[in-house]
Amino acid sequence: MLEVSNLSLAFGDLVLADDMSFRLNTGQTHVIIGPNGTGKSSLLKTLFGDIRPQKGSIQFSGEVFNVKNVTQWRRQFGYMPQDIRLDVGLSVLEVVLLGQLNALSLKLGDSLLEEALFALEQIGLVSLANQDVRTLSGGQCQMVLFAQALMRKPKILMLDEPVSALDLHFQQVMLNHLDQQTKANGWVSLMILHDLNLAAQYADNLLVLKGGRLVAQGAPADILTPQLIKDVYGVNVDIEFDGGGVPFVRTHRFSGQAGIHSNTSQIKAVS
Ligand SMILES: Nc1ncnc2c1ncn2[C@@H]1O[C@H](COP(=O)(O)OP(=O)(O)OP(=O)(O)O)[C@@H](O)[C@H]1O
Ligand SMILES: [Mg+2]
Repeated sequence: MLEVSNLSLAFGDLVLADDMSFRLNTGQTHVIIGPNGTGKSSLLKTLFGDIRPQKGSIQFSGEVFNVKNVTQWRRQFGYMPQDIRLDVGLSVLEVVLLGQLNALSLKLGDSLLEEALFALEQIGLVSLANQDVRTLSGGQCQMVLFAQALMRKPKILMLDEPVSALDLHFQQVMLNHLDQQTKANGWVSLMILHDLNLAAQYADNLLVLKGGRLVAQGAPADILTPQLIKDVYGVNVDIEFDGGGVPFVRTHRFSGQAGIHSNTSQIKAVS
């Protein structure tokens, strides 16, 4: 279990987390949603040890993060940051192999190569193995970085808007593969999504952030309501449920004003 306790994070007067606490179980897909600029990426960077919080503790399986153990701490992670471009003269296969940098040492065994090719095959990218990554499309690049994160065999997999450049097919391929691997390997998977319907389809646990607070957490079917979405995004929606009980968020053509969704008055933080 990844456990965040009483986390406070701010840049000057801008508070991104105010005494925030939550637990993420292993073998589950956790999805963070929330408005632009609310601190979702900063939270992931904090968990990875890139940003130091003002207060709070982060633990994984009993190990408490501190600055002295940052290298060892990060070995447990596969982390795909937001909007990464690959600007190195390497092939797709070489970039995927970099996911196993710790294990590479000086020689590259056949088994690692097979593993990398298998990772590419699993997500339908094996035909790109020898292509220079600088020539990939935005979506192909995102899929390659996903394969690299999987190659790390992480205990904690963090993906920051991993499907932002993907078409409908690859959105489903990636999220389905991620969810299957998470459950098969007992990972903690934590990703940020803006698409509420994908979040509803794939999250075992949804975390809704706004104004430095975790305003709701739980199974999508239990917490996604028109009122919550209105409070968080300032947008009116209808919510329907499909045959499997998965919520579907239907938007309407926008008739409000830009910038009004900073109103948090109706929202109560999750303790
Ligand atoms: N290093 C920094 N120094 C100062 N302010 C920062 C820094 N990093 C981020 N911020 C600010 O913190 C806020 C949250 O940024 P963050 O990238 O975490 O948002 P986000 O929720 O991921 O947004 P988006 O959905 O647009 O990706 C933004 O207002 C941003 O400008
Ligand atoms: Mg972000």
